[in-house]
Amino acid sequence: MSSFPAFLKSQLFYTPRDPLSTDPAFAAGKTIIVTGANTGLGLEATKCFVRGGAQTVIIACRNLSKGEAAKHSIEESENSKGVLQVWELDLSSYASVKAFAKRCETIPRLDSVVLNAGIATGRFQRVEGHEAHIAVNVISTFMLGLLLLPILRRSAATTGSRPFLTIVTSEMHFWTTLPQKKSPNIFAALDQEKGADMMDRYNVSKLLQILVVRHLTRVVIGDRFRYPVVVNCVTPGLCRSELVKDMGLTPVVFKKLLGRTVEMGGRALVNAAGGLVGKESAGEYIADDRISEPSPLVRSEEGAELAKRVWEELVPILERECPGIVAGIAV
Ligand SMILES: NC(=O)c1ccc[n+]([C@@H]2O[C@H](COP(=O)([O-])OP(=O)(O)OC[C@H]3O[C@@H](n4cnc5c(N)ncnc54)[C@H](OP(=O)(O)O)[C@@H]3O)[C@@H](O)[C@H]2O)c1
Repeated sequence: MSSFPAFLKSQLFYTPRDPLSTDPAFAAGKTIIVTGANTGLGLEATKCFVRGGAQTVIIACRNLSKGEAAKHSIEESENSKGVLQVWELDLSSYASVKAFAKRCETIPRLDSVVLNAGIATGRFQRVEGHEAHIAVNVISTFMLGLLLLPILRRSAATTGSRPFLTIVTSEMHFWTTLPQKKSPNIFAALDQEKGADMMDRYNVSKLLQILVVRHLTRVVIGDRFRYPVVVNCVTPGLCRSELVKDMGLTPVVFKKLLGRTVEMGGRALVNAAGGLVGKESAGEYIADDRISEPSPLVRSEEGAELAKRVWEELVPILERECPGIVAGIAV
């Protein structure tokens, strides 16, 4: 974290603002996708978009019955029908990611995508040939994000407003030095089970997310402030969700003592994905509802070089699955 006292101050004294207090109809007429919306922060963000008057919110989740249960609970609590849809998305399967993105081509407009789904576990597991945090939190997350960019751009052209693509990251990225940077290939090093530090892996995946967003928005797309889609990332702060349930007692206790409610975390996501923080957040890291500084490593010259390396290693993985994916994001 920037510093432990700063983290404590944020956790104890900052409450993410309610988007409805800025504008009660902040989502009126909009179509929004939230991944991992069946529970935790995604569920709360979805609820908030519904309250803000969204026309359609797509609950993207890997388990349709959990998604339907979330839909019904929001419809009851918010007394709203006809807004929510449940679409299948399993980030552990590239085929599922591609099928989901293909289905999104049928959406007439798309205003915000919140790439929220993610995992944090202490176990080494393989998904699509890669360690699971890297496959789910990084590779599939950006595969989906990049496949949706042309759809978001088309929507910008027809609606005349800039949509948001928001990646949900974490302040835990401050806690890693990315030890795999010493290897000739970072992704190959992360694939090695032997010697894998699984207590650091979630942090690494969150750092990689920020590095990819930085390189994408500062180098690949040209002028991030003129690109038709605002691509940003946000940390909700430590929240009392189920996220770290199988990582041992320490994070669970930490969350109980210092965690925000999931409702507060959901607000942070919504503010970043089109509400309070605004278009100037393009390419930026958002914490406590404002553009904030990511870790010193990210901000350093070394960070920019690492971001380039990570991007250059990620692209062939994505292109192998989705030929032309990078060409699709150019304006
Ligand atoms: N909670 C915190 O303190 C905190 C702090 C900083 C950042 N974050 C970030 O916030 C995001 C949401 O976390 P949360 O706290 O709400 O955790 P959560 O309650 O565990 O929710 C995670 C969501 O991601 C979904 N998911 C996991 N693997 C998936 C896959 N392969 N395909 C599709 N969906 C998948 C889960 O679906 P299932 O229900 O089917 O498992 C669930 O809907 C994550 O990106 C996390 O890194 C959380």
